[in-house]
Amino acid sequence: MERWDRIKSTVLDVVGNTPMVWLQRIGTDGGARIAIKLESLNPGGSIKDRIALSLIQDATKSGRLLPGGTIVEATAGNTGAALAMAAAVLGYRSMFVVPDKMSAEKVALLRAYGSDVKIVADKPRSDPDNYQHIARKLAESIPGGCYMGQFERDANPEAHFLSTGPEIWRDTGGELAAVVAGAGTGGTITGIARYLKAQNPTIQVVGADPEGSILSGGSYRPFKIEGMGEDYVPATLDMDLVDRWIAVSDDDAFAMARRMAREEGLLVGGSTGAMVVVAQTIARELSATQLVVAVAPDTGRNYLNTIFSETDYEG
Ligand SMILES: Cc1ncc(COP(=O)(O)O)c(C=O)c1O
Repeated sequence: MERWDRIKSTVLDVVGNTPMVWLQRIGTDGGARIAIKLESLNPGGSIKDRIALSLIQDATKSGRLLPGGTIVEATAGNTGAALAMAAAVLGYRSMFVVPDKMSAEKVALLRAYGSDVKIVADKPRSDPDNYQHIARKLAESIPGGCYMGQFERDANPEAHFLSTGPEIWRDTGGELAAVVAGAGTGGTITGIARYLKAQNPTIQVVGADPEGSILSGGSYRPFKIEGMGEDYVPATLDMDLVDRWIAVSDDDAFAMARRMAREEGLLVGGSTGAMVVVAQTIARELSATQLVVAVAPDTGRNYLNTIFSETDYEG
């Protein structure tokens, strides 16, 4: 054995292989058991670490991103942190356009990695000033700029097909009845569903969706949950793979995120709160010998001044 062969080459080599943990108190009032997959344990702090390298490799292979270039992306924060981390390792500059509903902690985080951040008003995609359109135009206006396109490029769901899905299958021994995930770009739920359904088509794929998002039906209105829910169906979301959508209110999602910290010792974000609410609903429809897996995209550390600050926050 080489002396130091257990030491990883870069931080990018420790992305993925996140653990799953049983819920011990929440959702144990009958029905299936619930386990959550802790994506906050990726080195950049969220599930988006998985797509950063995949998007960058896609851009370099196609010649859109050249050495010394600038990575530009529209992000609600986590993709930005993941890309900023990868950009630092690989020697690219990075620049992010974020909606103003994003938490201050996430903006500070991007700046900590040395990225430029442009904060814009949170507008629907039909508006020319929507953050995705602004990011694309910004990339075109910068020499060496490359728009990463997490909402449109196959490299996004592909990363989850190659890692997140197989990990869930491996760590459950294939013995799961349902998986719950949210959809922002839809990369997570599409990639996981594609993999798991290829192994066992009876696995139920359930989308957790903020009330106000169109994915679960209904018309669009703004919501506070970050990272998931949309006012259109992104190219990276294959709706045919999702068996069912369940909508959750901001209040219910955030209350559950607070319970997760206090009752389970799991400091998770608001979207995970929504996922756990949905997992509970699904678990009640199943039997005690079955398993529901919920994918927890990020950590509550991103939301200490919002979700976890009840006195100041009107959410
Ligand atoms: C905070 C957060 N980040 C990332 C994701 C993953 O989204 P997607 O892969 O659909 O873009 C979600 C989905 O729920 C989320 O809530």
